[in-house]
Amino acid sequence: MSARILVVGDVMTDIIVMPEGPMVKGSDRRAKVRNRPGGSGANQAAWLGAVDADVIFAARVGAADRMGYENYFRGLGVVAVLATDDQLPSGVLVTIVDPDGERSFLTDRGANLNLCAADLPDSLLDDVSLVLVSGYSLFEPGPRSAVRGLFAAARARNIAIAVDAASVGFLKEVGVKSFLDWTQGSAWLLANQDEAKILTGSSRLDKQMRVLGGRFDNVVIKRGRSGAALGGRDGVALTLPAPSVQVVDSTGAGDAFAAGLLSAVLGGATHAVALEAGIAAGARAVQAIGGQPL
Ligand SMILES: Nc1ncnc2c1ncn2[C@@H]1O[C@H](COP(=O)(O)OP(=O)(O)OP(=O)(O)O)[C@@H](O)[C@H]1O
Ligand SMILES: [Mg+2]
Repeated sequence: MSARILVVGDVMTDIIVMPEGPMVKGSDRRAKVRNRPGGSGANQAAWLGAVDADVIFAARVGAADRMGYENYFRGLGVVAVLATDDQLPSGVLVTIVDPDGERSFLTDRGANLNLCAADLPDSLLDDVSLVLVSGYSLFEPGPRSAVRGLFAAARARNIAIAVDAASVGFLKEVGVKSFLDWTQGSAWLLANQDEAKILTGSSRLDKQMRVLGGRFDNVVIKRGRSGAALGGRDGVALTLPAPSVQVVDSTGAGDAFAAGLLSAVLGGATHAVALEAGIAAGARAVQAIGGQPL
């Protein structure tokens, strides 16, 4: 069986702004400004590339940026199939880091919002054994309709689907029932603790697992520095701790986790070994700045 993974999701550039002091309205302030590649889908694909998985990444970028991004992903071992947008620029996230370390985000998903069915032809599924989609692609109507079309095609070919719940705020916005309907029957659901709580209405891990296990074959609940749990309709099957590490930037921990876990699953690992691989990748991600492997 091929172990190819198709990731569909956002390409973003994270612009990290670190002003030397509080902003001065209407005037200047020196700041360190740095760029980091980001976007949940791109992060997942990059981490999959880093563990030498066979990975294809489908996304949409501003027309001027296609070559640059294709080369960038190629360097990471990722085959990027990028649609281009003539109207909207590539997605950008501005992160403003206050002197006290608090972060505020301004996001413009740009070209990602125009991802459409034509960008995700059925041929992308050739030789693919798993489709991984971040919830971000389900939170806006355009990409959602494209991704739901791809889900239908994947189901028709018996290709497994993995979904990450991605964002408490956006889950609330689209409604839990809708999100569960769109993703019904997927082989894997990955959620962090807050997302699992919103999706189930319960704060109890075992209850969350049973409720979500009624809808997904395998459920993984990510628990930050406490590690992660895996289970299904019969409740929690396995809970593993995370190593104690120095956190530099938690961006992309969930994306790295997904890559570590799912590449191990496709490689034939047991669930225990796969969960351990997810946890190891998450721990690696929090020790470096940005959402992709350095
Ligand atoms: N402080 C930490 N120390 C060690 N491992 C961590 C830490 N934070 C996260 N991880 C690892 O990364 C995994 C995913 O992190 P988390 O539970 O925060 O998910 P998430 O909220 O989806 O992440 P993200 O912020 O990237 O969306 C955890 O299950 C854990 O294995
Ligand atoms: Mg997450």
